[in-house]
Amino acid sequence: MSAKREFALKQYLPHLEISQLERPIDLCHVLARDEIVIDLGSGMGDHTTQLAADNTHLGVLAIDVHTVGLCELSEFVAINKLENVRTHHGDGLDVLNGWLLPESISEVHILFPDPWPKARHHKRRLLQPNVVEKIIQVLRPGGVLRFVTDDANYYEHAMEILCANQSLIQDASAWDVPLTTYHRRALRLGNVINSISFRKLASS
Ligand SMILES: C[S@@+](CC[C@H](N)C(=O)[O-])C[C@H]1O[C@@H](n2cnc3c(N)ncnc32)[C@H](O)[C@@H]1O
Repeated sequence: MSAKREFALKQYLPHLEISQLERPIDLCHVLARDEIVIDLGSGMGDHTTQLAADNTHLGVLAIDVHTVGLCELSEFVAINKLENVRTHHGDGLDVLNGWLLPESISEVHILFPDPWPKARHHKRRLLQPNVVEKIIQVLRPGGVLRFVTDDANYYEHAMEILCANQSLIQDASAWDVPLTTYHRRALRLGNVINSISFRKLASS
């Protein structure tokens, strides 16, 4: 790792991490914001940084196991003095497993998750029925789960899971898919990009 990233890892990232906070964590309170968005699988951090910089009224939680991306993100946050970003450098499933105050999150974004294209690896995909249940628990009533992929089979897999869930309804309103590292890659490859959004029903 470069010295610059090493510096970010030691000096910037620890200030953003939520793992040591008392649980359940109320990110609205922590960030003094009314609305919180989770970027689950934040990669190089492009979506989180853009979203947080352009919408300072929002709080954004970036989650990834990937160290380099979080180093870049934390450096951007420090240089630009953003006060509305937090991170978890680790498994997003841990965060969804009771770390957060129930019904406290406005949106969860899963952008270009690893597709695991081989059928025998589909069980490794991030979006699974039990994970959707966990996401529903943290979403506010009316909160939105957004999922974007350039893998046709993963799109079908996601649609099947999300349409079958009685607590969600598809939201057809327009949303500009953020231009992330993997979005750019998909465009370069000429892949079809599918973006879907589902809203948590008020009575679920
Ligand atoms: C294909 S990349 C996409 C990154 C970014 N969203 C983008 O659009 O450029 C998927 C990311 O999800 C992360 N990831 C996969 N499973 C994860 C998990 N359980 N918890 C946290 N991050 C995860 C990977 O480390 C990787 O950075």
